[in-house]
Amino acid sequence: MEAAKELKRILISETPKHIGEAVKLAGWIDVRRDHGKLVFLDLRDMSGKVQMVVLPNHPEATVVAQSLRSEWVVEVMGNVNLRPEKLINTEQPNGAIEIEVLSITVLNEAQTPPFDISSDGKEIGEELRLKYRYLDLRRTRMQKNIRTRDKVITFFREYMHRENFVEIETPMLMKGTPEGSREYLVPSRLEKGKFYALPQSPQQYKQLCMVAGFEKYFQIARCMRDEDLRGDRQPEFTQLDYEMSFVVQEDILQFTEKMFFEIVQKLFPDKQISQTPFPRITYKESMEKYGSDKPDMRKDKNDPNELAFAWVVDFPMFEKMDDDTIQAAHHPFCSIKEEDVEKFMRGEDLFNIRANSYDLVLNGYELSSGSIRIHKEEIQKQVFKLLNISEEEQKEKFGHMLEAFTFGAPPHGGFAPGIDRVVMLLQNEPNIREVIAFPKTGEGRDLMMNAPSSGFTKQIAELGLRIVTEDKK
Ligand code: AMO
Repeated sequence: MEAAKELKRILISETPKHIGEAVKLAGWIDVRRDHGKLVFLDLRDMSGKVQMVVLPNHPEATVVAQSLRSEWVVEVMGNVNLRPEKLINTEQPNGAIEIEVLSITVLNEAQTPPFDISSDGKEIGEELRLKYRYLDLRRTRMQKNIRTRDKVITFFREYMHRENFVEIETPMLMKGTPEGSREYLVPSRLEKGKFYALPQSPQQYKQLCMVAGFEKYFQIARCMRDEDLRGDRQPEFTQLDYEMSFVVQEDILQFTEKMFFEIVQKLFPDKQISQTPFPRITYKESMEKYGSDKPDMRKDKNDPNELAFAWVVDFPMFEKMDDDTIQAAHHPFCSIKEEDVEKFMRGEDLFNIRANSYDLVLNGYELSSGSIRIHKEEIQKQVFKLLNISEEEQKEKFGHMLEAFTFGAPPHGGFAPGIDRVVMLLQNEPNIREVIAFPKTGEGRDLMMNAPSSGFTKQIAELGLRIVTEDKK
């Protein structure tokens, strides 16, 4: 026993390598089963679960074991024994062994959790799950989702580095990107009355990285958009954002396709991609044939392992809004398709002008958007003009881009798969909240921290702001 105390804690997953030896384990009590003289305990740590048994010949440990409840945190000394043949459970990872407990120390007690942690959680109201997210994340399904997300991000990062891309962190406090969504604003204390915008995406910075000569940029980029939420949308989300110089659309499509093919093969070998190369369809065909720009091309919609990737290409450059105003369909930095350049320069037939822009869709979801960009000042100015942005406003909002294009901007283009959606689809989850550790509700609330919140009186005064609340009638 004394020797055992000096042992270093090992993970449950390592116990099968220590059969016949004493080990020290630590973790949470998953379940306790009291069989009178015998107490069975399932212990859980980051690596898995193992069954432990407290025999009557260890009276001290038995007393502690009988007091234990689910989710208590304990440290255990025990012998790793092979289970008798007839008690081996081949369905469980550590089903062939059992820890014979020598001593137990309670490191922390726990209240009874507000919901069952051992289930997949789908039967529990989401509000409660989100309020106690740190408990919800203990369940096996959520641990798997978050750990798979890490694997996906690691894969992308390694893939990009292998392909000679450099990861560059771009600012969170910026001027704003006109990508169609409402931006979150951050008031400046030093320049009262002025605001930063949080990035909807690193779009402008990544293009400026091309002007800066990096040629191959990527970033696991956090993006913020103040938009109405749905199952596949959160106010904060993550993109695998990338940009390349001296490329044409075909280069980006092929590069991306190869990467997605490899990630499925490596991390999700049970999944089958329905068609390679991924089928390509124009925006016009997609709207005519499927009535959507994110067609679901699965052959069998009930097959959880089918992945129907498809490219949608030739998106329109401009779209008409409900109030008859004109807006860039994707963003104003997309270049124009060669065949439509004349019309574009003449400013005619605007809604039939196509951009060198493309989406990757998967099973009816938009996974990513991208385009070959404009890299010439006069073309960019023509887009702004057609969008009815005055010379003055162009200078004020986009002067830095227009100017950068006059200093030797290379031809460039890029893409930005949404990582939350990638993980959601590959994990067969119904919404992205299931693959985000701490998501917001549909109303944009963090129920666990209770944000947004009020009570910033001092900071609000420092920022030179005043809150106007509508009078309650
Ligand atoms: P876009 O706005 O199409 O393009 O976004 C690219 C991808 O990001 C994901 N995404 C979201 N995921 C979760 N919640 C959201 N609210 C949300 N909004 C977008 C989607 C989407 O396909 N800068 C351009 C990319 C480029 O042109 O290179 C951009 O952000 O998966």
